[in-house]
Amino acid sequence: METRTKILLLLLNIALANGLETLSSVQVIFRHGEKELDGTLEVGGGPLSDKGKKQMFDLGTYLRSRYAGFIRTEFDSGETSFLSSDKDPVIQSASMVAYGLYLDFNLAATWSGEENIQYEPIPVRTLPRQYDNLIQLTKSCPKNDARIQEDLNEYVKNFFNQNQASLELYAEKTGDTAILNGNRNGADRIQNLISFLEAVKFNSSNNLPLEDWEKQFLQEQDLFQFRSGWFKNYIDTEEKQRLYIGSAVQNIPTTFEATPVKKISLFSAHDHTLYTLMATLGIWDENNLQLPPDGATLIIEYYDSIGAITTDPYMKVWYRSETSQEPELLEIPQCGQPCYINKFKEVFANIIPANAEKECKVEGNGEAKPQTLSGSRKRPHLPKIPPLRKRTTTTTVSPKHIEIVSSTSENTVQNPPSPVLYSASASVPEKPLNVSGLNILMGVIVLVVGTGALIFAAFQKRRQYISI
Ligand SMILES: *[C@@H]1O[C@H](CO)[C@@H](O)[C@H](O)[C@H]1NC(C)=O
Repeated sequence: METRTKILLLLLNIALANGLETLSSVQVIFRHGEKELDGTLEVGGGPLSDKGKKQMFDLGTYLRSRYAGFIRTEFDSGETSFLSSDKDPVIQSASMVAYGLYLDFNLAATWSGEENIQYEPIPVRTLPRQYDNLIQLTKSCPKNDARIQEDLNEYVKNFFNQNQASLELYAEKTGDTAILNGNRNGADRIQNLISFLEAVKFNSSNNLPLEDWEKQFLQEQDLFQFRSGWFKNYIDTEEKQRLYIGSAVQNIPTTFEATPVKKISLFSAHDHTLYTLMATLGIWDENNLQLPPDGATLIIEYYDSIGAITTDPYMKVWYRSETSQEPELLEIPQCGQPCYINKFKEVFANIIPANAEKECKVEGNGEAKPQTLSGSRKRPHLPKIPPLRKRTTTTTVSPKHIEIVSSTSENTVQNPPSPVLYSASASVPEKPLNVSGLNILMGVIVLVVGTGALIFAAFQKRRQYISI
């Protein structure tokens, strides 16, 4: 390496360590806040609980303090966007984050004149579930759905076998003996159990009454890990990752590279969105069998210059699991730190779908290729857009069931999840920065002459929204 380049990298490293990077845009993907229990298991789930509202409000005020000076106090749709899945508590979550993020804007509302109503509505967009391949991931992909459903049937069968004793106790205590009926469809059998476990967990974390045997159930980690195990079936091969979460992976660079680009794009999402995305990116510990808790947040920051020097755009990924906690810097293992956007695209080329529509088609009307999984002689029939909740007596697992399970049983057991952590030491970027001769000269001058001043300025100006 040329000496000049070496010096430049050293200086850039100093700049990086001192927060001289210029933030260009941000994506925030968060799980909704705690929901109230909804005994009826209606699609959409219960509304946000008071605690859930507060979690989301706190996330909004946190983002305001992190990005004060980066985004304006007044809401501006050219700079900020909210996109939610089409479910009530998730839309409510986005609204609460918006309220917290624009609190001063709300409190300064003057439109009501004398009446002094301190509220400014902030638009939240949603994706209808049949088109949602970014957030709730409910868009149908016949080829992949059929394969996943076979795996899920198998998974549920094994789950019953492995937890026989607990399930018998549950059936005896609750009278839900249908759960023991092996002739019934697995997803149908599991529904009541899942909502029961959710109720136990809810009572436990809200100091509501629990019977002794229910308290014991709380210790049964295997039961509470049902959902993470379930969603693992969606992403356990590269092809499944591409067809299930690939569009969401692709959406990261696409959103950053959009023109005009938003300064901050917020996505109100689900535990399984974060889990399958983070696991696919390699930033969710495989041994962590929890799902991200209520309010868990992934922050992806995009930078394209350091001081006066334009660099190849790169991103930094942060994870914040509790609303009271500072985010932790994560490293996407294959992409490095910082993660250059071009490297990201290269590394995930197999995950980013080239033509999802085409790849999702089932050849020969779905009859041609018999599946090899034991126990299932027939390929499961798959309705395109499933009807909303209605019990069926068929022996297939339809997306409807996936939906119900996903909307009613978001397990967050006691231990906070531990994502793969990046040890936060500043390091020289692996890849040389893309700078022209003129830029190098400019950069050296700016950095050598101005480092002190810039560090000072950076601390004054950027400290508010870049936390290192
Ligand atoms: C949770 O607490 C409520 C009382 O608020 C009670 O009616 C309900 O049965 C409890 N749920 C479980 C699973 O024990």
